[in-house]
Amino acid sequence: MEANRPPNRPLRRLRRLRRSETIRAMVRETSLTPDKLILPQFVVDGEHRCESIEAMPGRSRLSIDETIAECRKAIDLGVRSFALFPALDPALKTSDAREALNEDNLLCRAVQAIKESCPSACVVTDIALDPYSDKGHDGLVDEHGVILNDETVDILAKMAVIHAKAGADMVAPSDMMDGRVAAIRNALDSAGFADTAILSYTAKYASAFYGPFRDALDSAPVEAPNVPGDKKTYQMDPGNAREAILEAMLDEAEGADILMVKPAMPYLDIIARLRDRTELPIAAYQVSGEYAMIKAAARNGWLDESECMVESLTSIARAGADIILTYAALDYATWWQKNRC
Ligand code: PBG
Repeated sequence: MEANRPPNRPLRRLRRLRRSETIRAMVRETSLTPDKLILPQFVVDGEHRCESIEAMPGRSRLSIDETIAECRKAIDLGVRSFALFPALDPALKTSDAREALNEDNLLCRAVQAIKESCPSACVVTDIALDPYSDKGHDGLVDEHGVILNDETVDILAKMAVIHAKAGADMVAPSDMMDGRVAAIRNALDSAGFADTAILSYTAKYASAFYGPFRDALDSAPVEAPNVPGDKKTYQMDPGNAREAILEAMLDEAEGADILMVKPAMPYLDIIARLRDRTELPIAAYQVSGEYAMIKAAARNGWLDESECMVESLTSIARAGADIILTYAALDYATWWQKNRC
């Protein structure tokens, strides 16, 4: 048979399985379904409020009633998980971030309302002090400009219990203090919330891609004497990969249920490395700057928005993320319904 083969013809032609969309879909290794997505939402006080966010086209700060309407729309499209971030009245921001421990604060009211109106929703809350801090840092800042680790962790653990009481399905520490996962797990278990999961921001980098998010919440570190202008003493250095494994080992040992890498596309190698080292589910956060880049280029007519968004989310899943937080969750789910269902 070999002897009868025409000369110079390849035996193996990989193009055979690329001939039609039907075949391509059959052999596709990664297909991201909308139920893997978590939609982050910015919540403001008041009613019928919808304030667009300039650098995040298509996303807005919404009052609780409007947030619920958005959740309903998402659930209809197959996106059932939500990560909530409160955009607080500046008058409520203090140096001790005390509003974070108010059981009736904006975030707790939003969690309760969503769980009541949309019982199938999975609600994830952010555990960090920045929305409540007048300094714009994720932890307490002392008079020398040092972000205090253990004192902050005590507050974060209390915050987690308050969120669980309000009905959060998962709490997501995004602060990068050392030892916070263990402290949160202990606090939740002691308060009777053994079933509340911890989605840990395991490898969160000190990234410039968070810019639009900080604008949305007005939560950037403030310019003041003895207040660091960046988060580099607690968030990870972009040059480090092995350190992400150390963070993952600690979070796993401390009781995290899901490990997260953030940002996503500039850190696909980190997602892939963690995938090789843990059996826990891995989440990745396509952050505000990643979203803004694609939206902005598309608005200029330089990129095809939907194709690029789908490709970028698929690449994050292919790298090893089981779960993706993305502001484009509704765009993706709409595309999915049109093209894949
Ligand atoms: C803060 C927090 C940030 C984001 C999520 N939680 C910003 C920061 O660390 O300064 C960024 C998300 C995004 O850019 O979309 N705890």
